[in-house]
Amino acid sequence: MKISYPFILVNFKIYKEALGERAVTLAKTAEKVSSETGVCIGVAPCSADLLRVTSSTSIPVFAQHIDPQPPGAHTGHLPAEAVKLAGAIGTILNHSENRLRVDIIDDCINRARDVGLVTCVCSNNPSVSKAIAALSPDMVAVEPPELIGTGIPVSKAKPTVITDTVEAVTAVNSKVAVLCGAGITRGEDVARAIELGSQGVLVASGVVKAKDPEAVLREFAEACLKAST
Ligand code: G3P
Repeated sequence: MKISYPFILVNFKIYKEALGERAVTLAKTAEKVSSETGVCIGVAPCSADLLRVTSSTSIPVFAQHIDPQPPGAHTGHLPAEAVKLAGAIGTILNHSENRLRVDIIDDCINRARDVGLVTCVCSNNPSVSKAIAALSPDMVAVEPPELIGTGIPVSKAKPTVITDTVEAVTAVNSKVAVLCGAGITRGEDVARAIELGSQGVLVASGVVKAKDPEAVLREFAEACLKAST
């Protein structure tokens, strides 16, 4: 399964609205919008729900995190192999709510690559994005932590975080795609993100906690189409 850009990645976090069977329902909604609009939409459910979601849908499924430990005597860790065997195609790493040391990020990217998982590594600002780009993940997702979950969109409140990240990442490694996230709740926030050079968005509460997630995702996908033509 290939990712195409613009890419919308919906992080379910551990919101109760997206745990267990509700994760499947939301993933199926994302699948429906993706197939109707042609925009690539991926989902990142809680790790306990990965298999449940991959068994019921055929959209790109990401873990929210992996650990660097290989399979073996390591209790309570999540190895890349288990995520791959659960049917996921990628993983988020270094989310602001689960930050990692840079050497651990490097190990995790390499472990993911070894088993064939795509990596979307989060950063909090352009300088950290630049450092992460040097580790050659597939994507860097820049998210100012203070805007996460606020409904104040990064693309309007801090547009230079996006443009500076695109510039810094491209200078280091032009193969790394740049996503952005934090506070994105409307189509116009997504369109602005794409216009600023982002190749997609990493979103959570605007979709997961919406009254009508299908309508929100459709608005996001249509904004992607409009902004990228
Ligand atoms: O991983 C995406 C996330 O941190 C952004 O959260 O709720 O502001 O879309 P939210």
